[in-house]
Amino acid sequence: MTVDPKHKTNDDCRKRDPERQNRLLRDQFGRTATYLRLSVTDRCDLRCTYCMAENMTFLPRKDLLSLEELYRLTTIFMEHGVRKIRLTGGEPLVRKNVMSLFENLSRHLANGDLDEVTLTTNGSLLSRYARDLARFGVKRVNVSLDTLDGDRYRAITRWGSINRVFAGLDAAQDAGLHVKLNAVAQKGAFEKELNDLIRFAHGRGMDLTLIEEMPLGGAASCRHSSFLSLADLRHRLEQEWSLEPLAVTTGGPAKYVRISETGGRLGFITPMSCDFCSDCNRIRLSCTGELYTCMGQEGGLSLRDALRQSDGNEIVAQLLRQKVFEKPSGHDFLIEDRQVRGLTRAMSTLGG
Ligand code: 5AD
Ligand code: SF4
Repeated sequence: MTVDPKHKTNDDCRKRDPERQNRLLRDQFGRTATYLRLSVTDRCDLRCTYCMAENMTFLPRKDLLSLEELYRLTTIFMEHGVRKIRLTGGEPLVRKNVMSLFENLSRHLANGDLDEVTLTTNGSLLSRYARDLARFGVKRVNVSLDTLDGDRYRAITRWGSINRVFAGLDAAQDAGLHVKLNAVAQKGAFEKELNDLIRFAHGRGMDLTLIEEMPLGGAASCRHSSFLSLADLRHRLEQEWSLEPLAVTTGGPAKYVRISETGGRLGFITPMSCDFCSDCNRIRLSCTGELYTCMGQEGGLSLRDALRQSDGNEIVAQLLRQKVFEKPSGHDFLIEDRQVRGLTRAMSTLGG
């Protein structure tokens, strides 16, 4: 990851604000949490088969934190050294008035509290919001797209329109946003289409990241039959393309290669077959104010009551520091020959 010199880093903050050193969110294994993934809603306008059941029961609206409460929590995280925030969902752009949160966060980009605000989206509302996102300092968006085929897109998302995503991609690039595509790897048609997806993404100057399917709750698809190991897929890609491993990371768990023929980057996120936990810098907050220090573990800590019971931030801050300290060393997913160990929590309650 390249660091823009005008931005403060945690090292700079340490020199200028020694107190912040004590407030950094360190865990028992010596990792520091600097990256918050913030889920602003569990709702989505699509129902991807690997993510959700067709008839989803969403959280009652009264259980959600307001956008003001979510923003207040982010300020507490920032005081503790969080420098990057990614908004996720569900689908973040379906949350009413979500642009007001981007607007509030944009001030922290401007004053150097934050290095980056990013967004993970399914792209269906991107054509409406791309310009506002750019105006509020967002530079990069991740768009989920598993296929280029309209019928297959509808089958995966149950009713989505691929043309809306294409329009969203156009709008995002027109607004100057860097777009990365995320595709969940599955056995079958996906494998056949992958070369086209690579050419499409790289032809438009977009990175493409492949994600191994994770056994989270909510979805109906049978994990075992659809699971495609990215280690195997990568071997097959090596027969067709020249893959040059890249040392750079984007601060996330993806391992990147450059494809010589296209010049573009291809990422692999392999939670199931490879361990990326040892240098994890992430924490996650659900739209109800549950703090998770690892997506692969059940058991969040609710910050909602502490937030609502006091105008001051100290109780929330204490809970935050303690929970991060206890962050587990790694996730607990497992797919082996005869066994799938997953989670009952759906992806959509916490985002990818
Ligand atoms: N396994 C892997 N990725 C998933 N996503 C949703 N559910 C799963 C799952 N079970 C992906 C979406 C999106 C990102 C937020 O997470 O496709 O790219
Ligand atoms: Fe919605 Fe993303 Fe889940 Fe698909 S994967 S249903 S787009 S939250």
